[in-house]
Amino acid sequence: MGKKIAVVAVVAVFLALLSQGLVFAGETTYRFDPQSQSSRAMEYKNTWAGYKLYQSSCKSCHYRGNDKGASFLETDSRTMQGWNKVFYKKNVPCAKDGSWAKLSPEDLVVINDYLYTKAYDTWDPRSNKSCG
Ligand code: HEC
Repeated sequence: MGKKIAVVAVVAVFLALLSQGLVFAGETTYRFDPQSQSSRAMEYKNTWAGYKLYQSSCKSCHYRGNDKGASFLETDSRTMQGWNKVFYKKNVPCAKDGSWAKLSPEDLVVINDYLYTKAYDTWDPRSNKSCG
């Protein structure tokens, strides 16, 4: 009885992770970060922290129908390299006008990690890698 519930719970957690694209089929994805000139493992601790910061510090303006003059932004509005460029060059209007000022360099790096794993071109039909 207890055992059956445990199995159901494990399956539920697995499905939840799968739906988030966080199960990499045993393969870790790496992102080369041009800012720090280092490779970053796209692990849950980074992408989850990035997801939370993206929701609180980017989607706070970029939600649909906002009155802040910001376009509706989705994680797949950019390719993986496109997101890297946004964070490396910081040449989007909000990065230049100080809207990113309260975010630390580490905050920005994990938001970049999150967006990289959810970018437009993360799913490659030619490879056996899962989404993300
Ligand atoms: C204070 C409001 C505000 C916040 C917070 C904010 N933005 Fe913006 N953002 C804007 C405005 C306004 C523009 C210029 C209009 C536009 O193109 O959406 C813009 C433009 C952009 C663009 C260019 C739009 C496009 O599709 O070409 C990107 C990309 C972007 N923001 C990403 C981000 C990210 C990533 C964050 C979080 C780190 C963020 N923004 C936080 C207001 C904001």
